[in-house]
Amino acid sequence: MFDRKPVRLDPRTPWFAGVRTALSPMAGVTDRAFRDICREHGAGIAFCEFTAAKGLTYDIPQAWRLVDTEGERGLVGVQIFGNEPAAMAGAARMMAGRRLDVLDINFGCPAKKVVAKCGGSALLADVPLLTEIAAAVVAASPAPVSAKIRTGWDEASVNYREVGLALQEAGCVWVTLHGRTRAQKFTGEADWERIADLVDTLDIPVIGNGDVVDGDGYASMVRATRCHAVMVGRAATGDPWLFEAMDAAEGLRAYAPPTLAEIFATVERHIADECRLKGERIGSQVVRKHVVRYFRGFPGAAAIRRRLFATETGERMLAVLAEVREESDLRQRADRDP
Ligand SMILES: Cc1cc2nc3c(=O)[nH]c(=O)nc-3n(C[C@H](O)[C@H](O)[C@H](O)COP(=O)(O)O)c2cc1C
Repeated sequence: MFDRKPVRLDPRTPWFAGVRTALSPMAGVTDRAFRDICREHGAGIAFCEFTAAKGLTYDIPQAWRLVDTEGERGLVGVQIFGNEPAAMAGAARMMAGRRLDVLDINFGCPAKKVVAKCGGSALLADVPLLTEIAAAVVAASPAPVSAKIRTGWDEASVNYREVGLALQEAGCVWVTLHGRTRAQKFTGEADWERIADLVDTLDIPVIGNGDVVDGDGYASMVRATRCHAVMVGRAATGDPWLFEAMDAAEGLRAYAPPTLAEIFATVERHIADECRLKGERIGSQVVRKHVVRYFRGFPGAAAIRRRLFATETGERMLAVLAEVREESDLRQRADRDP
């Protein structure tokens, strides 16, 4: 459908030829329930929230819960961060026998608490250490290894080309580039020209990332960069149908925006899944940020949010949702038959 750069696929990842969309790793967001929903709507691969390598090597249950992919159907990536090659390799080794299709290294996180420990994007400013980490993880990992980077630490030290080539040389099977520097965090616009440049520079596939919010955005990014696949993060929250829209832009299916009934059904399912997987109390807390996004832009969204947030269990949340749904059905009927 689109003119894409021919790439060298790793023999261990032939399936990547057909992957055109990816759900970003997002801390606090891309848990099991959300990954499942996004894949059902077409996400080619879905990434777990990032996990500290040391949390895994110290056997901290909370760290292991973030990468619990047991029985997960469809392609799934685990992402680790850290600044010590031995700990990163140790965490990679511990993936043996676990359910994952790729182990991703986070070299892009701008969060202070990660950067302060010289993890995430801080490593973009230390290419020898970044390279050492990538090589150690590749050597230790039972799964193929990919990496996610930003364009550089700041505008004065943009080095995605040098970093991308080092990662390719170290044996990464692909590189994801979020087209911002660390200094930009989430401000400004992702620079797709730099993504295009990395696509041209590397032989391995590049996943483009940053600011795609709909099917048109997908098509624009692929046209502008010739990237192998597009990764979406923020825009997928509350809109897993975005993956259908991107598949439609690729010519793989038709797309129609979700109906109100589909949105309600997905929200109900999401609440139920979170509560089943995390327990009523935590599940109903965690799902709130998603619920807000599902109803974003709805008439009466603020009131729906208030009513849902006043509940303390998933069961009560579902009951409130049923009430809201009934009221909206009534309103729609009233609008039709005044
Ligand atoms: C709440 C939140 C959490 C994130 N957590 C991670 C993470 O754990 N690992 C990572 O590599 N990137 C993380 N990111 C960055 C996203 O994966 C993505 O690169 C970024 O949001 C740009 O893509 P977008 O414009 O499609 O959102 C996070 C972003 C957000 C908004």
